[in-house]
Amino acid sequence: MSILEVKNLSKKFENTEVLNDINFTMEEGETVSIIGSSGSGKTTLLRCLNFLETPDTGIISVKGDVLLDSDDPSTLSENNIRHKRQHFGLVFQQFNLFPQYTALENIMLAPRLKGESSEAEIRERALKLLDLMGLSDRSENYPHQLSGGQQQRVAIARALALQPDILCFDEPTSALDPELTGEVLKVIKRLAMKKTTMIIVTHEMAFARDVSDQILFMDSGIILERGTPDKVFGNPENERTKQFVQAI
Ligand SMILES: Nc1ncnc2c1ncn2[C@@H]1O[C@H](COP(=O)(O)OP(=O)(O)O)[C@@H](O)[C@H]1O
Ligand SMILES: [Mg+2]
Repeated sequence: MSILEVKNLSKKFENTEVLNDINFTMEEGETVSIIGSSGSGKTTLLRCLNFLETPDTGIISVKGDVLLDSDDPSTLSENNIRHKRQHFGLVFQQFNLFPQYTALENIMLAPRLKGESSEAEIRERALKLLDLMGLSDRSENYPHQLSGGQQQRVAIARALALQPDILCFDEPTSALDPELTGEVLKVIKRLAMKKTTMIIVTHEMAFARDVSDQILFMDSGIILERGTPDKVFGNPENERTKQFVQAI
């Protein structure tokens, strides 16, 4: 069974069709990259998956559980949206760490609030995540003492701390100086090699080609082309895709 199924997802803002009949599936352990020009609907798609926006129509299922079905009002009720969000972790362009907390505390905060594990377990997991991010020596540093790349790696650890089924990234390196981009891409690649299920919106085409199992090319609110990196980058079917990948 696919870990994620998205069917007939559409979303309008006022009269603009921002997502138009989006359909795709992904398997557990896959990395899916979403590429496409600015304004094509990539962020809105991620926000719909994370219940930060409500789609107008469509079905979203995770591991066979229907999280949202626009024809079934019970799935649109507010009360279990918090619960549904927990299927997804989200890493934004802006890392938004809490400035008053150390790196370690930033990672421990959400699991503490969730209150399902002991303080010792939460701490141990947070330290492991910092290690995975190559930041073992930075646990007691505050965000202002860290570079942008280090802060973004803490933000990735923070998103992983709640053990989401699917980790989503929205242009995770776009706010970074070019020399800091590499260290963040490196840890995301490490996660891909550990078979973390991920959806990555990115403009880093060489990276997307290297780490992804599937590429979705979005254009004006539709998935214009979908396939392996070799197909989408090397042998695209659609003329628009060809133009996009040749321009970069
Ligand atoms: N809250 C909003 N209200 C109105 N229009 C929006 C809103 N959010 C996004 N849009 C519009 O939806 C389109 C897709 O935006 P977005 O999903 O941010 O694209 P991308 O992430 O691919 O750049 C754009 O035309 C944008 O202006
Ligand atoms: Mg965007």
